[in-house]
Amino acid sequence: MSKKIESLLVIGTGTMGAGIAQVAAAAGCEVSLYDTALDAAENARARIAASLARAKEKGYVEAADMEDTLARLHPVGTLESSREAGAVIEAVREDLQVKQEVFLQLENIVPPDTLLWTNTSMISITRIADPLRHPERVAGTHFFNPVPRMKLVEIIGGRRTDARTLEAAESAVRAWGKTPVRAPDTPGFIVNRLLDALLREALSLHEEGVEGRAIDEAVRLGLNFPMGPLELMDLVGLDTTRDCLVAQADGMGRELKCGESLLRLVKDGRLGRKSGRGFFDYPPQ
Ligand SMILES: NC(=O)c1ccc[n+]([C@@H]2O[C@H](COP(=O)([O-])OP(=O)(O)OC[C@H]3O[C@@H](n4cnc5c(N)ncnc54)[C@H](O)[C@@H]3O)[C@@H](O)[C@H]2O)c1
Repeated sequence: MSKKIESLLVIGTGTMGAGIAQVAAAAGCEVSLYDTALDAAENARARIAASLARAKEKGYVEAADMEDTLARLHPVGTLESSREAGAVIEAVREDLQVKQEVFLQLENIVPPDTLLWTNTSMISITRIADPLRHPERVAGTHFFNPVPRMKLVEIIGGRRTDARTLEAAESAVRAWGKTPVRAPDTPGFIVNRLLDALLREALSLHEEGVEGRAIDEAVRLGLNFPMGPLELMDLVGLDTTRDCLVAQADGMGRELKCGESLLRLVKDGRLGRKSGRGFFDYPPQ
């Protein structure tokens, strides 16, 4: 039987880390939140509280469940305070070196049987685990945005990942209300490899002068997708999108041929919903 995860450490409490923490805590897991500074982790907890309060107003969450979930979220200022976690999920920025540094640091702190999971969108699990002493406990658990609403989690093993690590990841995400799908350790796994093709063509069309709203409407109504590609990039974050497109192109061994408009927006600080402006404008609510 695979190991049951009763306590989790989330490293990187931005868009994805906060979402993962929320669903794990809502399902009864004790969750420590760690970021580069304690106030960033505290801020993530406050954002989760606000999101739960909205869900309560709409009748999706009971007041008592909301309080229980919040009581299981623990911002921490050091990694040392989280030695007891059964698993760690990192959701720091999409950069191989940054992710490897996080896991190398962790290896000196947590016991050898603590499972180490990464929420990478694109980077090879084999490469992330490569410098570690215990690569068998590393797996990809790729959640989708917004985490509370998206059902899928891709579960990815690297070359040296142990079968029990994958089974434990699958049963943990199932316990958190998600549906796991095993994906290969190839660039973009399943979903982002398919998405990459869509986003690159959407950016090309946009650069050729096709209006953003028209591209989105065409995809929503013509393909029956719930969102258009440009509004999706704004939701994901344009800096994160850029990192993903670059990683996908690198991984597939090809040059990134489009994306000028995207790079310009990132340079101007227009990062999508999180900064209030991206391809489209998002007035504060
Ligand atoms: N945004 C999405 O839609 C999405 C979807 C699936 C997967 N992902 C992946 O999830 C990961 C996180 O993406 P995000 O959108 O949540 O990013 P984000 O920028 O919203 O959050 C990243 C967080 O990590 C923190 N951080 C950076 N370096 C750190 C370190 N060394 N130690 C601790 N904390 C650190 C940052 O302060 C920030 O709070 C990336 O690998 C991304 O590719 C993102």
